[in-house]
Amino acid sequence: MFLARALSLTALVIFSCAHLIRSDELNNYDGSHFDFVVLGGGTAGLVVASRLSEDPSITVAVIEAGTFEKNNPNVTNTTINGLGKNTRVDWQYRTAPQIYAANETIIYSAGKGVGGSSLINGMTYMRPASSQMNLWPSLGLEINWDILFNYSKKGENFSPPGPKLTPLGADYVPSDHGYSGPLTTCISPHITSTDIHNTFNTTFKTLGIGPRYEFNGGDLLGFGIQMCTQNERLDIREDAAQAYYYPFMDRKNLVMIVNATATRIEWADDSQGSEVVASAARIVDQQGKTSTLFADREIILSMGAMRSPGILEYSGVGNPSILSQHGIDVKVNLSAVGENLQDQTTMAITGLVVGENTTGFLPFVSHASLQDLFGANTTAVYEAARAKLPEYAATIAAQNGGSSSAIIQEQLLRTQLELLFASNTPTSEIVPAAISNFIGAVFWPLQPFSRGSVHINGTDETAQPYIDPRFFQIDFDGQVSVATAKWARNFLITEPVASLVNQSTISPSFEAIPEDASDDLWLDWVKTKSNFQPNYHHLGTCAMLPRASGGVVDNDFRVYGTRNVRVVDLSVLPLQVAGHSMAMLYGVAEWASEKIKASL
Ligand SMILES: Cc1cc2nc3c(=O)[nH]c(=O)nc-3n(C[C@H](O)[C@H](O)[C@H](O)COP(=O)(O)OP(=O)(O)OC[C@H]3O[C@@H](n4cnc5c(N)ncnc54)[C@H](O)[C@@H]3O)c2cc1C
Ligand SMILES: *[C@@H]1O[C@H](CO)[C@@H](O)[C@H](O)[C@H]1NC(C)=O
Ligand SMILES: *[C@@H]1O[C@H](CO)[C@@H](O)[C@H](O)[C@H]1NC(C)=O
Ligand SMILES: *[C@@H]1O[C@H](CO)[C@@H](O)[C@H](O)[C@H]1NC(C)=O
Ligand SMILES: *[C@@H]1O[C@H](CO)[C@@H](O)[C@H](O)[C@H]1NC(C)=O
Ligand SMILES: *[C@@H]1O[C@H](CO)[C@@H](O)[C@H](O)[C@H]1NC(C)=O
Ligand SMILES: *[C@@H]1O[C@H](CO)[C@@H](O)[C@H](O)[C@H]1NC(C)=O
Ligand SMILES: *[C@@H]1O[C@H](CO)[C@@H](O)[C@H](O)[C@H]1NC(C)=O
Ligand SMILES: *[C@@H]1O[C@H](CO)[C@@H](O)[C@H](O)[C@H]1NC(C)=O
Ligand SMILES: *[C@@H]1O[C@H](CO)[C@@H](O)[C@H](O)[C@H]1NC(C)=O
Ligand SMILES: *[C@@H]1O[C@H](CO)[C@@H](O)[C@H](O)[C@H]1NC(C)=O
Ligand SMILES: *[C@@H]1O[C@H](CO)[C@@H](O)[C@H](O)[C@H]1NC(C)=O
Repeated sequence: MFLARALSLTALVIFSCAHLIRSDELNNYDGSHFDFVVLGGGTAGLVVASRLSEDPSITVAVIEAGTFEKNNPNVTNTTINGLGKNTRVDWQYRTAPQIYAANETIIYSAGKGVGGSSLINGMTYMRPASSQMNLWPSLGLEINWDILFNYSKKGENFSPPGPKLTPLGADYVPSDHGYSGPLTTCISPHITSTDIHNTFNTTFKTLGIGPRYEFNGGDLLGFGIQMCTQNERLDIREDAAQAYYYPFMDRKNLVMIVNATATRIEWADDSQGSEVVASAARIVDQQGKTSTLFADREIILSMGAMRSPGILEYSGVGNPSILSQHGIDVKVNLSAVGENLQDQTTMAITGLVVGENTTGFLPFVSHASLQDLFGANTTAVYEAARAKLPEYAATIAAQNGGSSSAIIQEQLLRTQLELLFASNTPTSEIVPAAISNFIGAVFWPLQPFSRGSVHINGTDETAQPYIDPRFFQIDFDGQVSVATAKWARNFLITEPVASLVNQSTISPSFEAIPEDASDDLWLDWVKTKSNFQPNYHHLGTCAMLPRASGGVVDNDFRVYGTRNVRVVDLSVLPLQVAGHSMAMLYGVAEWASEKIKASL
């Protein structure tokens, strides 16, 4: 299908060399003590493990359900992104039927292996909008754009594009990048040698979207080129393991245990006062044998937004009514665990090329504002949505297990809506794409208002969770999707792009959805299962917020009601933002690591 292929553009030559990677056997560590036990060796978990183990006096164990994927060509290949999807490096979670769309279940990709989702993702490296991060302090968060920007640059080692790439559309702002961190980033060297970027550029300009020379400095509106997590010299994917684990794996104080599933936290009997104290983690190997690893200082949960909530629930931290359904004793009454799931939905308008097939990678991207999408109707759309905020908030509060009130939810939604109305915050990302004989525009609204949840689904601690994103529950999400879809189809019939597209092959066709079609007809198209997929930026399920606002962790990433359990992964981000999640997450994990070290 075009959508899947368009999301996986690119061309290369690599050779994999057999490499000796030390694998620590779970059996040998049963009953061992470490200062820190990090559960999940993914994108954020490896940052924390790497930074903590810089101090040779601190011992760190990482538990990862998958294995080493250093020589897996589906991971390393830089010419086609996401070859690892639907293979062993993908958990391939499945959602509950999406009753606000076509009532179908959806496969939810998430990376499995040392490196986590950075093993299978699209490699796009793009920070959020500064306007979004700067509103978070008003919600009670310490983090803001300056902190994120600073720590994200700390992790980055940008390799500027050479002169050969400049005529192909490459550009960047030097001060918006870091140059001495472990994570290598660049502009894809596999960029198409055609001049299609000029065609896109002119068309975007015609439709009111001007040029943007850099997307990593906090402003994203406009059309330009994006960066990626790739090692240009070796021509391989720069996943979290390449950046934060393999270079440091010989450290004596860092132990990596793979093929091991974390199931539960054990609490010290002498937990006193109002906070419970974690003492150990329970781990199951592939044969089903359980081991116990003691954490003398802390347990860090880094299993991603779909899994970190579940281990809290199996350990007795969560909504009492959910825990009791599964016979679990309540340790901490914290109903926000697993609530507030947010992701975007990705769609595409496509056609066949006229003339020659397109070759090479197209790392071009644009962001449209509410004004770009709704034109003269913008104020009316904004006012109508604003009037419905109490209704939206009530819907969310009625289904979140009492973890936050409608008043709080309304404040969060209002924050999102005001930002969209403010002119410099993007509403939708629109990616012009061309691969073999297809051409089109892939797009997703960036700020979903719908809120889903993820909870345990039975007593088997190794089972997949019950995931319900509730896509399109809040009608504003459908409205923005429709407006973006219309904009994207209009893009394909606007010159000079129009000349590259066989107009009679555009899908959805003008017969199926005429130019003057009702929004309802478009909405049916949007919600059809094969027309949208998750954007895999799922977050928010262990939100960093005040406890009364639906928070699971405080500003130090510590789970409320516990003394020594922190969550460091994408689940702590409380609201969706523009950009792509990984660039933000590397910065957040660097910041968390520094906080943890400072607390020792
Ligand atoms: C298909 C796809 C495409 C994407 N494209 C992009 C992109 O182009 N740009 C971008 O910025 N972002 C992209 N993302 C999103 C980004 O990759 C993620 O948001 C980010 O990597 C999440 O990091 P994390 O540390 O929260 O979790 P992960 O990196 O997913 O790490 C979680 C780790 O925990 C392990 N784990 C889970 N449960 C257990 C358990 N019980 N015991 C032990 N280990 C466990 C997992 O195997 C995994 O290794 C994409 C994601 C996907 C899936
Ligand atoms: C990357 O994958 C593509 C598509 O499967 C393939 O054509 C190419 O040869 C691969 N590159 C390497 C180095 O394996
Ligand atoms: C790589 O992907 C292909 C196609 O999905 C699959 O057949 C193959 O088993 C994968 N390789 C590995 C090492 O997982
Ligand atoms: C929950 O578990 C039941 C029983 O195993 C299964 O039938 C169902 O598909 C699961 N639901 C989800 C959303 O995973
Ligand atoms: C949605 O699907 C589920 C199971 O597939 C079914 O039980 C339910 O009745 C369906 N709901 C609607 C509204 O069609
Ligand atoms: C920026 O990051 C550095 C570490 O790279 C840190 O020492 C400094 O305190 C940070 N400054 C701010 C304002 O966060
Ligand atoms: C788009 O056009 C502007 C000139 O208006 C130019 O400066 C910019 O580099 C172009 N961008 C791309 C990606 O071609
Ligand atoms: C992990 O399990 C896989 C599949 O069973 C196996 O191929 C691999 O060798 C194991 N890895 C290690 C390091 O034990
Ligand atoms: C959990 O806390 C909520 C309020 O936050 C309270 O209403 C509820 O009674 C508590 N449940 C239990 C089992 O303690
Ligand atoms: C604005 O609304 C009117 C009336 O609903 C509609 O005809 C028009 O297409 C809308 N314009 C845009 C840019 O959405
Ligand atoms: C263009 O791409 C299509 C689909 O991959 C393929 O069937 C066709 O042979 C290609 N045409 C040329 C000239 O390469
Ligand atoms: C456009 O597509 C139609 C339908 O597939 C085909 O009949 C026609 O030849 C194509 N036109 C061009 C210029 O490729």
